Amino acid sequence: MGIRKNFLTQLTEINSHFWAQYISQGDTVIDGTMGNGVDTLKLIKLVGDEGKVYAFDIQKEAVNRTKNLLEKEKINNGCFVLINDSHENICCHIHEHISAAVFNLGYLPGGDHSVTTESGSTIKALKDCLNLLKINGLISVMIYEGHEKGSEEKKSLLKFASNLDKQKYHTLYIDMINQNNQPPSLLFITRKHKRDGGHE
Ligand SMILES: C[S@@+](CC[C@H](N)C(=O)[O-])C[C@H]1O[C@@H](n2cnc3c(N)ncnc32)[C@H](O)[C@@H]1O
Repeated sequence: MGIRKNFLTQLTEINSHFWAQYISQGDTVIDGTMGNGVDTLKLIKLVGDEGKVYAFDIQKEAVNRTKNLLEKEKINNGCFVLINDSHENICCHIHEHISAAVFNLGYLPGGDHSVTTESGSTIKALKDCLNLLKINGLISVMIYEGHEKGSEEKKSLLKFASNLDKQKYHTLYIDMINQNNQPPSLLFITRKHKRDGGHE
């Protein structure tokens, strides 16, 4: 018998599991931090050929790596748009409603570690995504406090999420509270239906 993966210890698996509950074939979604394209590819598989993934990164290197990955996987060009811009400019590029937006914060693995996400631009991006988010849509944020600006970013994000209008949004925060070396944590925000206290 093979070794079973221990789901609770795999934050990435937990994250992908949530995405699959909220994203369907044909949906439009945003990847706010493209990086190596691993998450972009997972999202493309969830939305399928009829859907669309808009992926952002400020580094050309990340866009090139993602392009290569998607080419290698023979992904249909029509179901994604790779945007070499900061996620704080999401509202300049996207004018349609989205089912989900995902952010995997920090720096590009195997890239320049001095280029990291920062609280000001991350929160601006989250506000724009909340404006585009459909009822029952999902925003997920993988937070790493291990990088230079990570601890301040985590503090600001948790403050931002805690202060969201509880009539309109529901938040969930997953933290590995007995682990060492500043493990990542996971923030989810969903927009509620009117009957659950949300707006139309
Ligand atoms: C941890 S990596 C993302 C990993 C990626 N999701 C994957 O599956 O490989 C974080 C990425 O965020 C990017 N980034 C940093 N600040 C950004 C910003 N303001 N807008 C968009 N991307 C940004 C970095 O360049 C880096 O590639």
